[in-house]
Amino acid sequence: MRTYYCGEIRSSNIGETVTLYGWVDRRRDHGGVIFLDLRDRTGIVQIVSDPQRTPDSYEQTNTLRNEYVVKVTGRVSQRPDDSLNPRLPTGEIEIYIDNIELLNAVRSQLPFQVSTADTEPVREDLRLKYRYLDLRRERMARNLQLRHQVVKAIRRYLEDEEKFIEIETPILTRSTPEGARDFLLPSRVNAGDWFALPQSPQLFKQILMVSGTDRYYQIARCFRDEDLRADRQPEFTQLDMEMSFMSVEEIIALNEKLVAHIFKAVKNIDLPSSFPRLTYAEAMERYGSDKPDTRYDLELVNVSDLLKDSGFKVFRDAVAKGGIIKILPIPGGDVISNVRIKPGGDIFKEASESGAKGLAYIRVKENGEIDTIGAIKDNLSEAQKQEILQRTNAKAGHLLLFAAADAGTVNKTLDRLRQFVAKEFKLIAPDKINLLWITDFPMFEWNADQKRLEALHHPFTAPHPSDLEDLKTARAQAYDLVFNGFEIGGGSLRIYQREVQEQVFETIGLSPDEAYNKFGFLLEAFEYGTPPHGGIAYGLDRLVMLLAGEESIRDVIAFPKTQQASCLLTDAPSKVDAAQLKELHVASTYKPKSK
Ligand code: AMO
Repeated sequence: MRTYYCGEIRSSNIGETVTLYGWVDRRRDHGGVIFLDLRDRTGIVQIVSDPQRTPDSYEQTNTLRNEYVVKVTGRVSQRPDDSLNPRLPTGEIEIYIDNIELLNAVRSQLPFQVSTADTEPVREDLRLKYRYLDLRRERMARNLQLRHQVVKAIRRYLEDEEKFIEIETPILTRSTPEGARDFLLPSRVNAGDWFALPQSPQLFKQILMVSGTDRYYQIARCFRDEDLRADRQPEFTQLDMEMSFMSVEEIIALNEKLVAHIFKAVKNIDLPSSFPRLTYAEAMERYGSDKPDTRYDLELVNVSDLLKDSGFKVFRDAVAKGGIIKILPIPGGDVISNVRIKPGGDIFKEASESGAKGLAYIRVKENGEIDTIGAIKDNLSEAQKQEILQRTNAKAGHLLLFAAADAGTVNKTLDRLRQFVAKEFKLIAPDKINLLWITDFPMFEWNADQKRLEALHHPFTAPHPSDLEDLKTARAQAYDLVFNGFEIGGGSLRIYQREVQEQVFETIGLSPDEAYNKFGFLLEAFEYGTPPHGGIAYGLDRLVMLLAGEESIRDVIAFPKTQQASCLLTDAPSKVDAAQLKELHVASTYKPKSK
């Protein structure tokens, strides 16, 4: 019987005989005495085999190699003063082996070192292919533990403090429109029909409110076939919640308590009792982003009104076409050379990757006067220069970067440059935590490709009651939670009246027939006594990634997909038999490229 996990033993156990199971993290031979680091999911403990004190086990220990699986029985002893290890929780003790049993050896060469002592970075494709070895490593084991702690804290708070109940919703379902592409599954029984994997449990959780569930939550797997990034996976996990009879203020307050509970439980961090808020319009104006990282300042300054008639054609044309002109003021930006801002430079590259055609800039000289450069040279009047200095609060050494184009491009460009500069200038204090609500999103945005309005969140979001006159420009009763520049959650009050829902469908170009065909069950449910309701969903992977200090959600998911949406461990997706396809009534149009 195991008496302890490896990482649990302390000096209070000195004198006890213990039995441990684990992996050999590494073996060191110190002039005849063998030291083993024995590892399990809780950590490491030092095992000693001394030919004098424990001759029987010595031979056996000598044959062990890294990652062998063993059972060890031995006596806990105080380490000699010169071998205390204050960095290890078990660093005051060691265990003298009485008996060691080899349970399983390693038969192939390890593709990479698993040992905690080995800090060499390992290629990610190897880590994903041999994920079981990767998950043994300290960092990943710690991340999975943290993920578990976060989920545990969520369950404790929502269930014990707020009376939420967890209900599972289907994975085989109809497509729910969250704006991404669906994963589809053919139905064998209903020839020619398809299931979709849920992009979120949105419609089911609303139906649960109609059912009187009142407070629902679920740790829900969601599926979206979209382009992958470090913070996006094709299957990911949401903490999904829905509540009846609550206002936006009440929902936000409950969620602030939930988030504070999570931070306290897993990080022992006390968060403020409420988080700052910005409206969508304000966030876009000041930061060019609806998920701004407000751990540092670098605010954008709008100068469209000031420069719309300037001698510089690019500025004039941008505003004439309905666009805007904004400045990113960079204090101390004089260290950024002109070469970097001009075509071929790295700052220029950042801007052009966000769609900017060019990047005008000016500098503030030692004497506090503006030094116009390149294209805008001679194109700013003295009054304009003074006004720019005043609006941007620019001092000697400031670099002012201009973007002029349609609002989308300008904001995207300056948001990206803002983040780039913050990184380069190390403006982000390492342990700073910034939680921020973004509210008052517009209901719709223009989809230029499809030439129609589409819902910014999803079409079940309720419009602001004072904006019902013109839905097209209405604000939504929606809110996102932003954590250090990442959108970690989003939700809204929902439409619960059939007429409003039908109007919204119409606004996004769904004919009554199409709407009925897709969402008839929801519209019908609205006929039978639907309570006012609202909710939110958090990206659990993103939240855990940020709490773990990782840069990719792949590092907090046990078995993630690669950037190419495949699983290197199981080699999925894979080919299937023609017979399987036939049974599913599916024929493939795919033609392999001839080599
Ligand atoms: P939304 O689409 O904003 O809202 O998703 C909620 C949160 O889920 C996370 N997220 C993702 N995480 C990893 N990989 C992805 N591909 C991915 N896509 C989204 C984000 C996001 O904030 N049904 C609504 C919620 C509601 O209105 O209640 C929804 O799904 O952190």
